[in-house]
Amino acid sequence: MSERLAPPPGDPILGIETSCDETAAAVVAGGTHVLSSVVSSQVDLHARHGGVVPEIASRAHTELLLPVVAEATIEAGIEDSEITAVAATIGPGLAGALLVGVASAKALALAWDVPFIGINHLEAHLYAAFLEEPDLEPPLAVLLVSGGHTMLVAFEGHGQYRVLGGTIDDAAGEAFDKVARHLGLGYPGGPVIDRLAMNGDREAIDFPRPMRNEGYDFSFSGLKTSVINHTRKHPDSSPEDIAASFQEAVVDVLVHKARKAARDIGASGLCLAGGVAANSSLRERVLDACIEDGLRAFVPSRSMCTDNAAMVASTAYYRLKSDGPTPLDAPARPNLGL
Ligand code: KG4
Ligand code: ZN
Repeated sequence: MSERLAPPPGDPILGIETSCDETAAAVVAGGTHVLSSVVSSQVDLHARHGGVVPEIASRAHTELLLPVVAEATIEAGIEDSEITAVAATIGPGLAGALLVGVASAKALALAWDVPFIGINHLEAHLYAAFLEEPDLEPPLAVLLVSGGHTMLVAFEGHGQYRVLGGTIDDAAGEAFDKVARHLGLGYPGGPVIDRLAMNGDREAIDFPRPMRNEGYDFSFSGLKTSVINHTRKHPDSSPEDIAASFQEAVVDVLVHKARKAARDIGASGLCLAGGVAANSSLRERVLDACIEDGLRAFVPSRSMCTDNAAMVASTAYYRLKSDGPTPLDAPARPNLGL
């Protein structure tokens, strides 16, 4: 049995995340004390297919989830009987993958006689931005950029969001993944392009900045096509320069719109959320912009940006307080919005 020097802070909640290709479980107490956060990535299973295969993801979640949950409670140093609620991502995400997490969380909640809380994955990404710095002063502008979503959100208080804009085609992470696949760099593309770009010239190729000066919506599909056309015309172009110039175009548009949003809503700070928020250049540029604009920057650690269950358990703490438990017959909702 694990030794504990001091009792953990109150209300430990078990969070479960299985919306895509990470099987994750975490225990978070009081909304902000992360007692454990375990993420088992399926990246290797999907990489040879060039992207996530939904059926493979569901099967892998089924095999991995219970060991991951066990690891999370052991690492947290608590007994199952000390868990006060079980939360799982209820949507959006892959239907089969979501079902594994939701059904398992409901079964555990029933067995332990504690509430079940269904959590919106997008809201969980927002809370990841606050988990490490909980003293919020709304309104805040949040740039949520992941493999499936690109959104600018005005956070006006717990559970109060206004979506200012979003992508009209590819999400930012999807653009990274598709460009990487075209360049033969493997999956997921974001981290590889991030690494390659460090040795490239971001001004080498002047890729377009779609919709840069048009409202809060985004479009990355044309940019992706420009990269593909460029590599066909210039097969000898350095992959490092292509990666750096492509990344520069994406980051330039994202940061420009996020700053504008912060200004327009009179935000006290700017937050980054979602997998693409792990991008080195985006993080650096947002930090610089916040210093220049006199804003507080909420830039979560990289492990909090990509899919994890600590953000699910943290959100659950606030949702349980505001809305109470989720009924056990609530279905998974693959197309849930924010
Ligand atoms: O939030 P997330 O883990 O899963 C979704 O909810 O989609 O985001 C995954 C996305 C992928 O598209 C991946 O390529 C991208 O985040 N990503 C990055 C980086 N790390 C992950 N994109 C750019 N730079 C990175 N360092
Ligand atoms: Zn995500």
